[in-house]
Amino acid sequence: MRLLVSGGAGFIGSEFVRQTISNHPEDRVVVLDKLTYAGNVRNLDPVAQSANYRFVEGDICDGTLVAELVRDVDAIVNFAAESHVDRSLEAPGQFIQTDVFGTYVLLEAARASGVERFLQVSTDEVYGDVEEGSSTEHDPLRPRSPYSASKAGGEMMVWAYRASYSLPVITTRGSNTYGPYQYPEKIIPLFITNAIDDQLLPIYGDGSAVRDYIHVADHARGIDTALRQGTAGQDYNVGYGGATSGGEVADLVLGALDKPASLKQHVRDRLGHDRRYSVNSDRLRGLGWRPLVPLDHGLRETVQWYRENEQWWRPLKSGEFWEFYRRNYKPLQADAAQGL
Ligand code: NAD
Ligand code: DAU
Repeated sequence: MRLLVSGGAGFIGSEFVRQTISNHPEDRVVVLDKLTYAGNVRNLDPVAQSANYRFVEGDICDGTLVAELVRDVDAIVNFAAESHVDRSLEAPGQFIQTDVFGTYVLLEAARASGVERFLQVSTDEVYGDVEEGSSTEHDPLRPRSPYSASKAGGEMMVWAYRASYSLPVITTRGSNTYGPYQYPEKIIPLFITNAIDDQLLPIYGDGSAVRDYIHVADHARGIDTALRQGTAGQDYNVGYGGATSGGEVADLVLGALDKPASLKQHVRDRLGHDRRYSVNSDRLRGLGWRPLVPLDHGLRETVQWYRENEQWWRPLKSGEFWEFYRRNYKPLQADAAQGL
């Protein structure tokens, strides 16, 4: 297969590219990535010398560039997105631009060139807050944040191209992902890197909201399974099947680093904080996929990776990172002062 992987310099996209180059040496991979604050071409260092890999710096919203790249591929796998919920709460516009309009630009190029597969990497957050049970692919989308709404908007463009132009599309809805090379704004790498430096771990609200954490290797393998073995027109959930609260994440990280509980700090809750996500991944399991990395093992390995790769994450925790950090994190008392 000749693949165009958009957003392939990000956290999950780069794992997918590393796996593809190693497991499918007969494939050709072109990565298109804008290298936003979250993108890092160094994530692709392990494959940089491979003859079947090429990197193109550019924007998925650039129709001319995208049309040129899509002409020579069999499949598109779209990871490119603004991906952090808290940033979407502060400034939703770029999320709509990349996650909705950018998806449309890729779809339009796919329609013109007639690709064999268009895989849209989406998220379990499109189902919204799930009070009980687990979401199946038939459930309605009820996004509640600007980020999840932009991802749902991208999915709906994908559905429109499936229904209107019979484009062979597949959507994956992955759960909260962790592992090496994750930008340190998301809870697990933020807590690990803060704890390494004896800085406070900011837990939103009472820390009871839960997520289903899946290792990035399992998530990327799930996307690969859906791409190669999935049925065109289907959506596939990709989850691990656990439920871990923010408070528990803090305890696990502190335990793995042998740091004191006094580093835990409860801060103002996220606006509209979804309390729980949970997906049923039976459809993908039916294709032979299953998650292989237990959370406690994966988390310990991830902690070890961040300890051994300070040269990767230290430069990222500077300048704009701390400006956003200061704007985003507020003491708990701020809720009371604002009558929240
Ligand atoms: P990330 O933020 O680490 O990476 C996103 C990548 O997209 C970056 O390399 C960035 O430079 C690139 N990008 C952003 N805007 C672009 C544009 N306009 N044109 C080209 N490239 C652009 O994100 P991630 O965590 O790796 O997530 C990848 C995908 O998986 C996203 O679509 C996200 O919604 C989805 N997802 C993420 C998770 C998670 O827990 N991280 C879980 C489920 C689904
Ligand atoms: O579920 C899939 C989604 O997982 C992806 O679609 C998103 O791209 C990805 O960012 C992630 O979204 P979350 O909002 O679930 O991840 P985040 O790491 O931001 O938060 C996880 C939980 O931890 C959530 O309940 C909020 C809480 N949290 C987060 C941060 C950053 C904290 O308590 N403190 C923090 O500092």
